Amino acid sequence: MPKHNVFSGPNAIRDFLDPGQLPHIPLVEIPESLNPFNADGVRIYGKMMSLLALGNLKALPAYNMIAEKYARGELTEIDRLIENSSGNTVSSLALVARQFGIEHTSSYVPSEISWNKLLMLLFFGIEPIVNEEPSDPTGDDPQSGINKAKRDAQAEDTWNPGQYDNPDNPAAHAKWTGPQIWDQTDGKLSLFCASLGTTGTIIGTSTFLKSKRADLPIVGVMRAPDNYVPGPRTEKLLNLVGFDWRAHVDHIEQAQTAESYRLSMELSRRGMLAGPSSGLGLSGLLQHLQAAKDEGRLDSLRNVDGEVCCVFVCCDGPYAYLDEYEKYVPPAHFPEVRNKELLKNKP
Ligand SMILES: Cc1ncc(COP(=O)(O)O)c(C=O)c1O
Repeated sequence: MPKHNVFSGPNAIRDFLDPGQLPHIPLVEIPESLNPFNADGVRIYGKMMSLLALGNLKALPAYNMIAEKYARGELTEIDRLIENSSGNTVSSLALVARQFGIEHTSSYVPSEISWNKLLMLLFFGIEPIVNEEPSDPTGDDPQSGINKAKRDAQAEDTWNPGQYDNPDNPAAHAKWTGPQIWDQTDGKLSLFCASLGTTGTIIGTSTFLKSKRADLPIVGVMRAPDNYVPGPRTEKLLNLVGFDWRAHVDHIEQAQTAESYRLSMELSRRGMLAGPSSGLGLSGLLQHLQAAKDEGRLDSLRNVDGEVCCVFVCCDGPYAYLDEYEKYVPPAHFPEVRNKELLKNKP
C-alpha cells in the first residue's frame, strides 16, 4: 500500500484503481432512526463501495477481470471491449481498460436506462447500444444483451469480459470485499446481505466469509417481479446468470422499487450516500430481520457480545439516478420549490 495514500509515477492511475492498494473501504453503522431493530440489539452496517476509486462496487470485478487476463498474457491482441451492463460495470471496465492500453469500450444497455446514466457513459467515452431486453428470457435468448455481447466478441480484436460467468468477477470479492468485512467486524459478523445482479458480490464475499465461519447466514436480495432497480435482477432475469449463485445464498428476499428508492434517499440524507440498489439491499435485510424476529430466531444470530451484527452492501452513490427519485418516492418526501415561476429551466 502506498505511503500516506499517495500514488505517483507512470503507473500512478493504474495503482490508484487497484483495490488492493487502497485502505479498507469504510463500514458505517446506519442511524437508529433507520433501524427498527435497534432496541433488539441489532446493529446494521453499510459497506460504502461508493468510496472505491471509481465510485461503485463494480470497480472491484472490473479491475480483477482485466488485471487477471493481462497477467495471463491474453490482452495483447485486444483493441475493444464489449459488455452488457446497466452502467457501473462498463464505466469501471472502460476506465481500467485504458490503463491497460485498450481505448474503446461499447456496451449493451437496457432500454430502461436512466438518461443521466446514459450521459455518464457518453461522458466516459463509451459507446452505448440500447437493447430491448426480453422480460422472460431463456439462457440462449439471442435478444438478450448478454448474448449479443458474446456474439460481438467473436471478432478477433474484441473481448467480452462476460461479468455474468467470468470467475474473476466473484474472485474480486473473495480477494477484497470478504477479507475486509471479516477484519472490520472483528470476526463478530452475524449475517451478510447483498443484492443479486451478476451475483459476483454475494458469491465471492460469502465464499471468503464461509471459509472463516461455515454457518454464517447469507441473505440475497432480488427485485420483486416487475419492480425496477438498476443493477440487481428479478428471479427470471437471474436465469441468465451463469454462476451457481443459489449454492451460496441461504435466504432470498424480494424488494420493491418504491421502498428501495425511499431507503436510498433516507440513507443519503443522513450522510451515507447510497444509490437505489443499496436501498434494495437494506429493504431486503429489514424484511429478513422482521421475519427472524416474528419467528423468534433473532437470538440464534447473536454474537459473543450479545448483538446481531449485520452488513449490507452500499453499491454506489445516488447521483447517477437523481432524475428517477421523484418517479418512485411520493411528493410528500420532497421540499417545495419556492418561487417556482421564476425558474428559467423548467423540468
Ligand atoms: C448499482 C449496482 N448495484 C448492485 C449490483 C449487483 O452486484 P453484483 O453484480 O455483484 O450481484 C450491481 C451490478 O451490476 C450494480 O451496478
